[in-house]
Amino acid sequence: MTRFKRHLITSALPYANGPLHIGHLAGVYVPSDIYTRYLRLRGKDVIHICGSDEHGVPITIKARQEGVAPQEIIDRYHELNKKAFEDFGISFDIYSRTSNEIHYETASLFFKTLYEKGEFLEKTTPQYYDEEEKVFLADRYIQGTCPHCSNESAYGDQCEKCGTSLNATDLINPRSTISGSKPVMRETKHWYLPLDKYEPFLRKWILEGKKHWKSNVYGQCKSWIDQGLQPRAVSRDLDWGVPLPLEGTEGKVLYVWFDAPIGYISATRELTPEWEKYWKDEETRMIHFIGKDNIVFHCIVFPSMLNAEGSYVLPDNVPANEFLNLENDKISTSRNWAVWLHEYLDDFPGRQDVLRYVLCANAPETKDNDFTWKDFQARNNNELVAIYGNFVNRAIVLTNKYFEGRVPERGALSGYDSKVLDAVPAIRGRLEESLDQFRFREALKEAMNLARLGNKYLADTEPWKIWKSAPERVATILNISLQISAALTVLTEPFLPYSAERLRQFLNIGPIGWEKAGESDLLPAGHVIGAGGLLFEKVTDEQVEHQVNKLLATREQNSNGKKDLPPAKDNINYEQFSAMDIRTGTILSAEKVAKTKKLLKLTIDTGIDTRTVVSGIAECFEPEKIVGKKVSVLVNLEPRKIRGIDSQGMILMAEDTKGRLVFVSPEDEIGNGSVVK
Ligand code: MF3
Ligand code: ZN
Repeated sequence: MTRFKRHLITSALPYANGPLHIGHLAGVYVPSDIYTRYLRLRGKDVIHICGSDEHGVPITIKARQEGVAPQEIIDRYHELNKKAFEDFGISFDIYSRTSNEIHYETASLFFKTLYEKGEFLEKTTPQYYDEEEKVFLADRYIQGTCPHCSNESAYGDQCEKCGTSLNATDLINPRSTISGSKPVMRETKHWYLPLDKYEPFLRKWILEGKKHWKSNVYGQCKSWIDQGLQPRAVSRDLDWGVPLPLEGTEGKVLYVWFDAPIGYISATRELTPEWEKYWKDEETRMIHFIGKDNIVFHCIVFPSMLNAEGSYVLPDNVPANEFLNLENDKISTSRNWAVWLHEYLDDFPGRQDVLRYVLCANAPETKDNDFTWKDFQARNNNELVAIYGNFVNRAIVLTNKYFEGRVPERGALSGYDSKVLDAVPAIRGRLEESLDQFRFREALKEAMNLARLGNKYLADTEPWKIWKSAPERVATILNISLQISAALTVLTEPFLPYSAERLRQFLNIGPIGWEKAGESDLLPAGHVIGAGGLLFEKVTDEQVEHQVNKLLATREQNSNGKKDLPPAKDNINYEQFSAMDIRTGTILSAEKVAKTKKLLKLTIDTGIDTRTVVSGIAECFEPEKIVGKKVSVLVNLEPRKIRGIDSQGMILMAEDTKGRLVFVSPEDEIGNGSVVK
């Protein structure tokens, strides 16, 4: 750390398309905040950068689902998430957003610089195109049948049922999720970052130079590099994002993973006119805090971009974490399987530190880890309340009781006294070692060891029993206990900032520098402390039960939400089947039936005649979009008057368990009137 003059800490920019949950905090923001606070306490020049990642296809999908503009989505979640971070004391120096003007400027310039250096490959390739909507389809906008497990709603990049990652062209019967139509292939031009060309740089920089990185991070990098890197497209056909800053590229934007990490630079520019000092000076130590799904982008792609650009520093370390599970199940936004930060604070107001504590103690540092409410309660009650809280409370209460709140003089020290006092700087040293290596769980344990030491010291020396017989011993014991309490305000501050502040109020002191923790006279004799109070409160069984019940209700909802497929109907005979006259036809026109939600009036060419059919599909299809559609029609269904319209027949539709309707259409070109049998 010594050769560096300053620190640039970045935390992954969360997507502004959903609220934050405990997995976010545990994986990225609690560790990054602990580290930043630690550096600040040590008096280092440090800035901590974060903000909302506001581009990418999921945001446009969410907007479309809600029928609002993407801007509305990002505004909503930017504000919500910014507030959640503030509420939990995640102390960014700036929480910016990638929709800001300064970001567009920074990202465009970055692209142009690489472009002018001739770094990009340009390739024209066929991509799926939606002819009805007249847009190229991002992989996430294409659904079809998975070639591996026959799941009919696999996405163009992945089948969520069997987990296989796919190419859009692997899907059987692909369809556009925007219009439902069958996409066609169309040529489109894109710009590629030639990662293969950077392989020698990456080998040298990471595989040789970063052997000390966390093994999960180094291992992933090695495996990416050893598998052979491929050029990656950095542009997309999309109308949401930073427009490609080149002539004649309308309808194209920067790929979100190209622009987002540049967001770290834009945010720094927004923060300070001295931003170049942090980004372009070899004496800056840059550290990216991220989750494991971000490793390739932060260790391979972004450094390659930075290196190709040439004027920026590279990350010195990328201490990525694994994932946190919740009650033995993967955290999932879509299944609402999460503890949302804003909801936690509704249920546990003012108790941010407890969650910070539990998430750090259980951080998924080297492997995925599990959060359970039982463990939350146990850690709070058995550690924070019973050890830390109990110790400082006793020290403060007894000082008020015996010495009118004045720090008493220390007398001659026993061996035990000296041992306890000497332990403080030793603990501080071990804490530093752990934090310097991003071992946050271990560091937290060390900090708690100081509270544990104090608690045991009081339990062993029992000053309340010897007040009458040896008041000068009591004075010494309480003096030492108060010195430890003061040291605790410093050494626990990175982890438990709210409690550290309250403890300072109890002790009637201001902030103390890191290096001071371990000095034996942090509180001079005679200093008047405050009245104290409870630093932590018990989490009750009822509270735990309430949280667990909430999750059980979610589980219940998730399993009920899916309608089951209806059971098979009773058998019919062949006569009954062949009595149905089903023909292929074409929809000639379609219009909504006034004052109804569901009904469309269709005119259909059945090959044998042109007729009117009223169909209950208006919630799934817009009339203009189904004109020309090939359909199957039951033509000998008794005519029926529906809303005053004579409906002559029925269109065959398939309905899935989610109520989605799909036309049962002839797969190949075939004349109207052909018999379906
Ligand atoms: N939004 C991304 C995610 O949540 C992280 C982006 S980090 C950045 O996975 F640096 F690239 F912005
Ligand atoms: Zn599959």
